[in-house]
Amino acid sequence: MLVGTFQRKVPTICWFRRCPGGDAVFEPLIAIENVSKRFPGVQALKNVNFSCSKGTIHGLVGENGAGKSTLIKVISGVYHSDEGRILYKGQRVHFHSPSDAIKNGIRVVYQEFGLVPFLSIAENIFLGNFPGKGLFFSKREMYKHTEAIMQSLGFDKSPDTLVADLSVGEQQFVEIMKALVQKANLLILDEPTAALLPNEVEKLFTIIRDLKNKGVTVIFVSHRLPEILEICDIVTIMKDGEIVGTFETSSLTEEDIVNLMVGRTVEVTFPKRLTEMKRKRELLMEVKRFVPASTGKPVSFQLFEGEILGFYGLEGQGQRTVMRSLFALESVLSGEIRLRSESVRIKTPHDAIRYGLIYTPASRKEEGLALILSVYENIAMPILIRQKANLVRNRELLKVCRRIISEFNIKVSNLNQRVLNLSGGNQQKVVIGKWFSEYPRVLLLDEPTRGIDVGSKIEIYKILRELSNQGIGIIVFSSDLIEMIGICDRILTFYENEITGEIRWQDFTEEIIMAYATGTHSNKFSA
Ligand SMILES: Nc1ncnc2c1ncn2[C@@H]1O[C@H](COP(=O)(O)OP(=O)(O)OP(=O)(O)O)[C@@H](O)[C@H]1O
Ligand SMILES: [Mg+2]
Repeated sequence: MLVGTFQRKVPTICWFRRCPGGDAVFEPLIAIENVSKRFPGVQALKNVNFSCSKGTIHGLVGENGAGKSTLIKVISGVYHSDEGRILYKGQRVHFHSPSDAIKNGIRVVYQEFGLVPFLSIAENIFLGNFPGKGLFFSKREMYKHTEAIMQSLGFDKSPDTLVADLSVGEQQFVEIMKALVQKANLLILDEPTAALLPNEVEKLFTIIRDLKNKGVTVIFVSHRLPEILEICDIVTIMKDGEIVGTFETSSLTEEDIVNLMVGRTVEVTFPKRLTEMKRKRELLMEVKRFVPASTGKPVSFQLFEGEILGFYGLEGQGQRTVMRSLFALESVLSGEIRLRSESVRIKTPHDAIRYGLIYTPASRKEEGLALILSVYENIAMPILIRQKANLVRNRELLKVCRRIISEFNIKVSNLNQRVLNLSGGNQQKVVIGKWFSEYPRVLLLDEPTRGIDVGSKIEIYKILRELSNQGIGIIVFSSDLIEMIGICDRILTFYENEITGEIRWQDFTEEIIMAYATGTHSNKFSA
């Protein structure tokens, strides 16, 4: 027996290189022994023991800030541990840098992208590893390889497209292709699906299963627990820098994993919707024949007070463009926006904020955060933009900042910690939380829970539902369709930049939404 069986409420904590009372029955490909790693103000890993055997898919889960990415970075030579040792193929190893680990067949897709925006897809994939001899690399070969791998992933773009022109989901695929282009014994994926749509996740899973069959070991980090249960053979749960336990995935349910992650019983449910009868259905925003310049296609829709309206579409189908154009981040050819029957002209994001609109972007690093500034400065920024800076008292700002940190459960060592040093999910919580210093009229949310742990997601769903109950209108796009079904009151589907379907929550099913989102059905009006 490799790992212990999970017994409800009394987990057997067992990751062991040797099974109890026996000789070693499996040779792990990689074993981490008693590893600790400290950053200023936080013990990110505490005496961690973790191992993976050849040809298994090994899930790694834990709340935001639990230490998953740090563990991966210690394995792959980004960080050096303070204590402990790493055995790889039975030998003690010291990887001094990521390239050292790559030479040894360890490839990693990191949670934060390391792509160069102004290079092409092909150049990014082969960066540091151009095919050809010496200085003479073969551009033709590079494109040929890139095309082949893109085809296998069904990635429909030209290899010379600039990465800057790709969406977050597409960039994620470039990261994955970068890791796949060279042979690996150990492939580590740190939240590879956080920005992927269901069809893309399936493609990735096919590749992962194929690699497993070829004997590759995969470490898979995700906050989407159904994915962990679907793809992983074994799962290790971390909490506060420690290993809680390692289990066969088939012995656990989603609830078991959540309870182990959080350390208490948590109900994994979406907050209840108000019944139609109780809710006032006043029109909050009306958008008429609104034409974003980049698509040239008109869209029209209404948003009611207290409604959570989903915009759902596959990558690049216009749902994001409409949101970004409403917030004046992209130019608009024509159209009308009415807020409570008053016609408004939104020329800049500043105008949008003045009218009570808020937009939270999917790409937290590029648009959502000032990474080198502190948590406090990031949260205070929207307040300072809205009001005259000298009218805001520091004490009040601090109070608001503390409230947001507690409401969104953001794990920080102190308010002055740089956002750059927060874990991925905690950065995302700052992206959303910083706008909640004041209540808006309309919220536009692009992938609000990307990379956020399950417990905190449930908190965010509650906050969104509470806001909607107060009459705020919310427009949301999430690549996680189950989440969309759970939180939205109505969904508009997008296909080829047009609205193809309108579905009320009573009628939500994955099949129906996907049918409209892939253009096989349409019940919608021309704009
Ligand atoms: N370079 C760094 N400097 C300072 N603190 C850091 C650094 N990297 C990580 N930390 C801290 O170490 C802890 C563990 O972070 P880590 O990124 O490993 O979490 P995680 O489990 O990957 O979380 P998430 O699910 O949000 O990605 C966090 O408290 C984080 O703030
Ligand atoms: Mg992480």
